[in-house]
Amino acid sequence: MRVITTIKEMQHTMLLAKKGGQSIGYVPTMGFLHEGHLSLMEKAREENDIVVISIFVNPLQFGPTEDLSSYPRDFERDKELALNQQVDYIFYPSVKEMYPHSSSVTVKVNERTDVLCGKSRPGHFDGVATVLTKLFQIVQPEKAYFGTKDAQQVAVVEGLVNDLHFPVEIIAVETVREEDGLAKSSRNVNLLPEEREQAPNLYQSLLRAKEMILNGERNPQKVVSFITEMITEKTDGKIDYIEIYSYPMLKELTELHGKFIIALAVKFSKARLIDNIILEIYEK
Ligand code: PAJ
Repeated sequence: MRVITTIKEMQHTMLLAKKGGQSIGYVPTMGFLHEGHLSLMEKAREENDIVVISIFVNPLQFGPTEDLSSYPRDFERDKELALNQQVDYIFYPSVKEMYPHSSSVTVKVNERTDVLCGKSRPGHFDGVATVLTKLFQIVQPEKAYFGTKDAQQVAVVEGLVNDLHFPVEIIAVETVREEDGLAKSSRNVNLLPEEREQAPNLYQSLLRAKEMILNGERNPQKVVSFITEMITEKTDGKIDYIEIYSYPMLKELTELHGKFIIALAVKFSKARLIDNIILEIYEK
């Protein structure tokens, strides 16, 4: 496994690999790797000759009051985990390497960003789309792997590669969870012990909502109210949003039908957690 820190060397290495006929699978990350990230690498390993990951905490996707400075980092540990996953290259650039001067071009996402995390984190998806545009040019993968834990990110990235004609296939991978159901996240380490105990209620509330829907509930408001009550009652977290939209277009629904997402974000004292489930209901 090689660690590469410059854009020039990464681009050159990938170009040579492509000339040699090797397929490149790519997993972009912000590091502090956990089993969610590792499952993306495992899938990439199965499907490609070369597996590249990047570790870059992208300042452009953090708002001014967000957790950029407290975002957890541990490169040595990440390196070990990537090695165990048989990753071939880690692209590990500095902020200066990725953003050497104020940018003359950035990417602006126009659709699917007025809801969920796009609404509560203004500019977040522009930052994600801009860094991924750069990273895709640097790594030039055939396939790139993303987790459905960040389902809105998957939808936005699919829009990005379709609209700007990137020759890359986006592969969505299921959310990996702790044994108690909490979605694995680099931010979980920032939960206080009592918050960590409460946090599985996020997923539990989504599962209870799914049950309600499978038992016939079709009113999105009723489902949202149920989840709101359960999270308010069982956690000290502050609800950022609990919303239901069609997926992947993220349009409002008056009735639960077709493919849709139930998504939530809850702020604990030092960590904002997100989770979602995607369901498909087609009445006979
Ligand atoms: P990061 O939060 O590090 O996540 C990297 C990838 O891991 C994302 O595709 C995310 O959806 C996936 N992931 C996170 N937790 C997961 C889980 N529990 N199960 C499965 N997959 C999981 O998402 C980002 O970084 C950044 O926005 C990035 C795409 C790298 C752009 O900067």
